Amino acid sequence: MSPLNGARMLGLGVYRPARVVTNDEIAQRVDTSDEWVRSRTGIATRRIADEEETTVAMGAAAAEKALAAAGLTADTIDLVIGATCTSPSQIPGAGPQIAHRIGAGQAGAFDINGACAGFSYAVSTAADMVRAGSVRHVLVVATERLSDYTDWDDRGTCILLADGAGATVIGAAETDEIGPAVWGHDGSRPEVIRVPGYGDNMFRMEGQAVFRWAISLVPTVRQICERAGVAPDELAGIVPHQANLRIVEALAAGIGATNAAVARDVVDSGNTSAASIPLGLARLLDTGVIRRGDPVLLFGFGAGLTYCGQVVRCP
Ligand code: UT7
Repeated sequence: MSPLNGARMLGLGVYRPARVVTNDEIAQRVDTSDEWVRSRTGIATRRIADEEETTVAMGAAAAEKALAAAGLTADTIDLVIGATCTSPSQIPGAGPQIAHRIGAGQAGAFDINGACAGFSYAVSTAADMVRAGSVRHVLVVATERLSDYTDWDDRGTCILLADGAGATVIGAAETDEIGPAVWGHDGSRPEVIRVPGYGDNMFRMEGQAVFRWAISLVPTVRQICERAGVAPDELAGIVPHQANLRIVEALAAGIGATNAAVARDVVDSGNTSAASIPLGLARLLDTGVIRRGDPVLLFGFGAGLTYCGQVVRCP
């Protein structure tokens, strides 16, 4: 038997809050319209969590579904990585609380705050730990409750932000199914996406600056394919962070992913930061346009200005 030197996603699970908020509902409070929001962002609706749907509760629900999909129980998990920038408290993080809630009693637990790139950073970290043999199974849980940081009077951001969670179990495999990560940052511009704190605990963004930066990442996305040894036209799917449909489509078109199904979950789910990639991936799998084993490019980008992506085989 070949040694298990590779890593792969063994299962995926997501949680979408029950409450659907339309653009018309937002337009009752700020000066905007369904037509403006759809044409500038692609967003038609978003999910907003209720009081019980905390970052931890949503993450735990997604984690349990990922475990079930992987055919594993919580006691086989060695490590839980929370990928979140909206932990209910700065201290403690969400990871240990999620691990406790699902009964992963043997697991280590911590958070990665890679903002909207957090899922890809956590997947890469988990895969490297599995390949190194220091853990058997890692649960990566991306969970966000951006509504806690939304200024509902700021029409430049409240139309985008949303809540939700997605999780995956990463474990050993004979063939490696998680490609090398390509990542980077531009920490010289913290002001373009931030939650300032100190009297203003709301999400603030210079939308146009972020938009231009995101579009300029096309060569980076091409590099992810090169590092994985997969040509863009061989991709079955592409799941960029669901920030804005125009950005998603520009990235997919820019690299020439001509045969790939493009995740457009932002249309129904809004921008859920780190959770948006697993939510988008799950949507493509659920609709049957991609299948287990297909090569899919994941690419997160956001505050920091951090980015991270990899080509994975679908769970
Ligand atoms: O997940 C983190 C990463 N975040 C992103 O990637 C977000 C990237 N940025 C964006 O998605 C877009 O920049 C926005 C959707 C936020 C804004 O769209 P835009 O096409 O860049 O609009 P803009 O900021 O250039 O504003 C154009 C006009 C302005 O009015 P004036 O100054 O031209 O009179 C804004 O005040 O649109 C106005 N505007 C709105 N109008 C109606 C801004 N927001 C709204 C709104 N409804 N919701």
